[in-house]
Amino acid sequence: MCGIAGYTGYQEATSILLAALKKLEYRGYDSAGIAVLSAAPDFSGANIEVRKTKGPLSALEAALENNAPAGKLGIGHTRWATHGEPSDINSHPHTDVSGSIAVVHNGIIENYAHLKSFLRERGVVFRSETDTEVIAHLIDHYYQNDKHPRSDPLLRATLQAISKLEGSYALGVIARDFPDRLIAVRKDSPLIVGLGKNENFIASDAPALLAYTRDVYFLRDNEIAVLYNDHVDMYNNSGEKILRESQHIDWDVESAEKAGFAHFMLKEIHEQPKALRDTLNPRLGGGINTAANVQIHFDELDLPALSAQAKRIVITACGTAYHAGVVGKYAFEHFARLPVETDIASEYRYRDPLFDKNDLFIIISQSGETADTLAALRLAKEHGAKVIAITNAVGSTISREADTVLYTRAGPEIAVASTKAFTTQLMCLYLLALELGRLRGVLGPERYAEGIAGLQKIPENAAKILEHKEAVQRYAARQFNKKKVFFLGRLFDYAVSMESALKLKEISYTHSESFAAGELKHGPIALVDKDTLVVTFATQETLFSKITSNVREVLSRGAASLIVMQEPDGGSTTFLEAAKTIADEIWTIPRTAAPFTPLLTVIYMQLFAYYCSVSRGNDPDKPRNLAKSVTVE
Ligand code: M6R
Repeated sequence: MCGIAGYTGYQEATSILLAALKKLEYRGYDSAGIAVLSAAPDFSGANIEVRKTKGPLSALEAALENNAPAGKLGIGHTRWATHGEPSDINSHPHTDVSGSIAVVHNGIIENYAHLKSFLRERGVVFRSETDTEVIAHLIDHYYQNDKHPRSDPLLRATLQAISKLEGSYALGVIARDFPDRLIAVRKDSPLIVGLGKNENFIASDAPALLAYTRDVYFLRDNEIAVLYNDHVDMYNNSGEKILRESQHIDWDVESAEKAGFAHFMLKEIHEQPKALRDTLNPRLGGGINTAANVQIHFDELDLPALSAQAKRIVITACGTAYHAGVVGKYAFEHFARLPVETDIASEYRYRDPLFDKNDLFIIISQSGETADTLAALRLAKEHGAKVIAITNAVGSTISREADTVLYTRAGPEIAVASTKAFTTQLMCLYLLALELGRLRGVLGPERYAEGIAGLQKIPENAAKILEHKEAVQRYAARQFNKKKVFFLGRLFDYAVSMESALKLKEISYTHSESFAAGELKHGPIALVDKDTLVVTFATQETLFSKITSNVREVLSRGAASLIVMQEPDGGSTTFLEAAKTIADEIWTIPRTAAPFTPLLTVIYMQLFAYYCSVSRGNDPDKPRNLAKSVTVE
């Protein structure tokens, strides 16, 4: 995820910015840059110098050797590519045409294409492929057109610019005409102001500040801070001054990197509402507040042509990404009525699979580097297939070799266990399934709008699941020593049971398996005894009685039983009452259309796996024998 640093004070900005960016390296990045404003002590002769490079901070440091800009005000950035590949030109900071305003940005500007056209019509020539560049030009546009130049024009121009932005953003802004100040803005992307003595700072995360100060303002959404050397003014987004109490941070550096969470995995589980929103909203056009006239768009794809041609979808991936593919299979069948074949990439590459020129081939990979997945991609391409990759890593090998890339917007995952990468892959697949359904004429306007509305509720409902984490933790404390944990489900619930079993085994080292619930009686039930926990997903109420009879079979063998299901519908508690007779623990999700339930039920299971792992004394971030990116066979 990108990192922001900013400084105004009496020291050389370059060295402070580099030191702060180093403390943000753990967030993951692919390029880095700084912009420093140099001026005489009376602020005359101001000039902004930008240095930026693709690659690690050491590459930037090498570029700065004997060429570091001098100045006491600056902004810096580590970039995790979202729009445009990692490159020098796409790295931040970005400036307006004349180089007099520089901006660093974390987040995603959803309407950047629209803003780009607006600015192009006014003669702006863009240099990068990023969404961020529009912000620098937009601030300049409003600055140049300001009719009230005496009332803090940089703040006014910034306020006008952000009023046009849709999406998430944390910003650092400096301007040649205002060499005494640094502007910081936050909406849906974290930003902290650090308060020093005759110097002030900004950073996207506390570790970057701790060497300089522990007194901070955690900016809230829609707040703007204007930092001078000797004070900081705070504003709301109407430009009215506000008062904020500073906070004192007493975390050590290690817990600051995890934003106060005990592990990266727990932090990443909690980032899911935002990651889901960031993956969903940029794909929705026509106003995102009312589902009725919203349309899904995949600008990277000629989906109408693909939809007219596709007779079958083939999905391959590994591990968690494969489980996303299994959910995708059910979703494409359900919403688009297309036959789907899903296979594990390590199997697919050695099969003798049938190819058809009308196949739509989808590869899923968080890292974009998994060796087996890459081999499956290459095999498909050798046979003339057009490959769509769903990945989280811009510039990865898979993203370079696929014909089209659909990026998830999860931000980098540091914990080995995939959590937010999985749910954002699902989000991408659902959007694709709904849009294909519409284009193929199998989803009428009503079901299409219902589908979109269902997805729009997911981020807030994901946040509601996280509110139950104490209950999950308590249950994990009772169950973590079970010898066997089996996960049961049918259809969409079966796909989640596969992912739940993988999550639990990889970080808690508990023997866990998933079964299609109907298969239990064909063999696995022989394994069930009093040392077994059976977790049953029962979110599809049309299948409720079938699944509860499977649970009864395991109860009579002495197993403990956890049921995950929909919360009661209005006043009707029939299903809940039935579940109470066969479960010693029940977790409910906010009511959600059956196909979308994996997005919520899996969050319970990520938390459960996490707490079991911790209860067993493991390090959930670095499970034994596993690597984050499996680049070998
Ligand atoms: O980077 P990828 O999505 O291609 O990785 C695939 C699997 O290695 C990965 O999902 C693995 O199963 C995770 N550690 C599961 O949490």
